[in-house]
This record gives sequence, C-alpha cells and structure tokens, in this order.
Amino acid sequence: MHSIVTLISGRGSNFEAIVKTAQKENWAVQFSGVIANRPEAKGLDFARSEGIPALALDHKAYPDRATFDQALMQQIDLLKPDLVVLAGFMRILTPEFIRHYAGKLINIHPSLLPSFPGLHTHERALEAGVETHGASVHFVSEGVDEGPIICQATVPVLPGDSAAQLAARVLQMEHQIYPRAVKWFLDGRLRIEGNQVKVYPPESQLFAHE
Ligand code: GRF
Repeated sequence: MHSIVTLISGRGSNFEAIVKTAQKENWAVQFSGVIANRPEAKGLDFARSEGIPALALDHKAYPDRATFDQALMQQIDLLKPDLVVLAGFMRILTPEFIRHYAGKLINIHPSLLPSFPGLHTHERALEAGVETHGASVHFVSEGVDEGPIICQATVPVLPGDSAAQLAARVLQMEHQIYPRAVKWFLDGRLRIEGNQVKVYPPESQLFAHE
C-alpha cells in the first residue's frame, strides 16, 4: 500500500479531487496525512471528515524558512510517504527540502508551464492575450514552478473572461489531471528522462477542456 502525504495552504480542492478519485477507483493507497502551513486551511476540515490525519504547522511560529522546512520534513517523514503532493501549498521550499524528496515530490501549477510561473497566473494570461491557458503537474526541482512536466491541460480563454472565470475553468481541469498524474506515479508508470517525463506504457500527457 503506497502512502501519500499532501501539503496544502487553503481550500484543498485538488486534494479532495485526488481522494475522491482514489475512492471511486479503489486505489491501493493510504492518505497518511495532510499538513497545512495555515491553521485555518479549509482542506484540513475535509481531511478530518474523511478520517485522514490533518495537521497544521504554522510557518509564522518559526524564525525562518529553513527551520520551518526542517520541522515540516520531520512531520512528513513520520508518515513515511512514497509520494509528497503539493496541492495549493503556497510556500517556497528550501533546496534541502526539495533534495530530500527528489523524485517523489510533485506540484500542480495553474498555467501551461513554462509560461507564467509564480503568482496571479490567470490575470497574467489575460493581460498577455493568450488564447490558450491551462494547468501543469510537474516534479518539483529547485527553481520556482520548474521541474519535469508530468502532464498538462489546456483551457480556452473566452472573450470577456474575468480572471475568476478563467481560474474556475482551469480548476475544473486541475481536478482531472492531478488524480491522473498521482495514479501514474503510484503505478510506477513515470520515468524522468532528462527534463522530460515519459509515461509507460505511453498515454497522452496532454488533456483538453471540452
Ligand atoms: C490551484 O489553482 C493550484 O493550481 C494553485 O493553487 C490553487 C489551489 O487550490 N497552486 P486548492 O487549494 O487545491 O483548491
């Protein structure tokens, strides 16, 4: 049975999508814990309602990033994860943290990377006038929102879209691709080759909003 630990900062809807897909598809997986860096994170309530151990580790209680990340690593390691899932975890992680979980740390980012790393991706996509936007699931490497891409989803930008409308359309796709990427990982189907991720046996790594 594989063990997954998830890190969140807020709503936790991606985490919820992964748990619900796992339940629906009967994955052999244990959600060993959810850790939020904000005690008020809504996703902790969902975790508790599902009987998943939920813990708040408030980053503000630590003097600096390195000390917080050390404490976080300690908590995560107690749960012995095979995979650490960043699901709306709004913190930059230290290189030590990232190296510690190399090859088993994944993230979802609300843009078609390498376009629009960082914050406010939907506003920036609208401002740039792109016709296609989306989301990416990737292994985490030391740069912000960098690392080999596991899969992506494209979403059309429609005339008159607000950032909120676009975000909602992207989120709908996030909820589809993140569970797929996690399942591929658990099934041992992902290989990192250089800066690319291949799925074996091959399957499309690009999803499109209908
Ligand atoms: C998602 O859009 C994710 O891509 C971004 O933050 C948001 C988190 O949403 N990194 P949720 O907490 O999973 O609902």
